[in-house]
Amino acid sequence: MTMMTATEQAFEDYLAAHAEARLESYKELIRIPSISALPEHAADCRRAAEWIAADLEQIGMEHVEVAETGGHPVVYADWLHAEGAPTVLVYCHYDVQPVDPLDLWTSPPFEPVVVGNRILGRGVADDKGQLHLHLRATEALLATRGTLPVNLRFVFEGEEESSSANLDRWLRANRQRLAAHFALISDTGFFEGNIPSITIALRGMMYAQVDVIGTEVDLHSGGYGGAVENPANALARIIAGLKDEDGRILVPGFYDDVVELTPDERRLMSELPFDEEAYLARLGLPELHGEIGYTTLERRGARPTLDVNGIWGGFQGEGSKTIIPAHAHAKISCRLVSDQDPDRVFAAFRDHVLAIAPAGVRVEVRLLGGGHPSLTPIDHPATQAAARALEATFGQAPVYIREGGSIPVCATFEQALDLPVVLLGFDPPDQRAHAPNEWMDLGNYETGIRTVARMWDEVAAIGVDGLRA
Ligand code: BES
Ligand code: MN
Ligand code: MN
Repeated sequence: MTMMTATEQAFEDYLAAHAEARLESYKELIRIPSISALPEHAADCRRAAEWIAADLEQIGMEHVEVAETGGHPVVYADWLHAEGAPTVLVYCHYDVQPVDPLDLWTSPPFEPVVVGNRILGRGVADDKGQLHLHLRATEALLATRGTLPVNLRFVFEGEEESSSANLDRWLRANRQRLAAHFALISDTGFFEGNIPSITIALRGMMYAQVDVIGTEVDLHSGGYGGAVENPANALARIIAGLKDEDGRILVPGFYDDVVELTPDERRLMSELPFDEEAYLARLGLPELHGEIGYTTLERRGARPTLDVNGIWGGFQGEGSKTIIPAHAHAKISCRLVSDQDPDRVFAAFRDHVLAIAPAGVRVEVRLLGGGHPSLTPIDHPATQAAARALEATFGQAPVYIREGGSIPVCATFEQALDLPVVLLGFDPPDQRAHAPNEWMDLGNYETGIRTVARMWDEVAAIGVDGLRA
């Protein structure tokens, strides 16, 4: 253990003195139910944005703005007084997922509670906890040093959980004032076993709805059964025609743009300390399932998928009701990998669904949302700075992982804004994001604050020229 410098000591003292206030402030942010998908929570999303803006003002960030996008606002702020030092664009999102099924929560989702070393509540991990730790790292740096080692621009989004529908337009329109040397996204997590990680790949997304329509109203299944096609049966046949028994997707052309893993990449993935038995046990399933010919980690991180997210139609009540449903529906999404394009995948998906649709029903296929996959470079100096910061604070060198989830803005930063991206996130791997009883490890949160501060010092040490290398 090396001795702390006076600057580091002051930073630690500040954090120690404000531990209680910090937790209270974290809880305050969680208490705002900023569910972006539900229109009745639009005012709450705005309230969360304003809460964050007020906090940014208070800690000394500048040009704080709750910026209109056409959807839920973006919160922007900067601090640009580290002359000659690199500029980093930091992205997190303040919106959260809906909370249903509510009855499975052990405490109300927007009344955060601390149990042992965990805080429970919607958004504590995804992604308000990570956003909050950036606020607190900046606060402690500015309070103890009166300055920051790098220039920072914060972009905190309010629509990530609803496919970032308005963000790209806002980013392109604000290209000039978003100039930076790289972007840092804190919206990912650690590897199984809570091992510090840097995510180097995210999957993209194509999200569609399939509507199968028969008659105007439900039919008596005695009077008409045998004479007409049943929309629910037809939907089941369509879905069955999307994938084979080996988990391969049957949409023609689906795999055309998929970049195969190299032998080296496969070896790196196979060397990750992945305990498949523990993973299975945690899920409580009889066995794992996926595309034949690939390991679980490959299937989860580097292969595309096709999954039904929801399916409905016909009688859902108790007991029986003898009908041929008038219509049936499914929400179906594909996770995409480089270089798949969501629009091309949608076109192929739609064509295939229409081609295999039974003739006795009308079928409509709609695109609900999408995002591009992304790959971020391990050897970029900013990634390596993050690795050193993680090792210095968590006491363990990070592993490099491919995540199955999607953060569409990652590809926008890379492609539209020409920014290299570092994915530095602190969620524990089993944090129940999007599910009941979402939790955050308070150790990850607290050490995350130190990691961010350390990261900025590392980036300053590299300097602008070093980041170009
Ligand atoms: N933080 C997640 C993305 C994520 C998930 C990163 C798992 C790493 C591991 C993000 O908030 C999210 O949930 N994204 C959505 C995107 C979708 C709405 C386009 C997702 O992945 O479903
Ligand atoms: Mn997230
Ligand atoms: Mn999420």
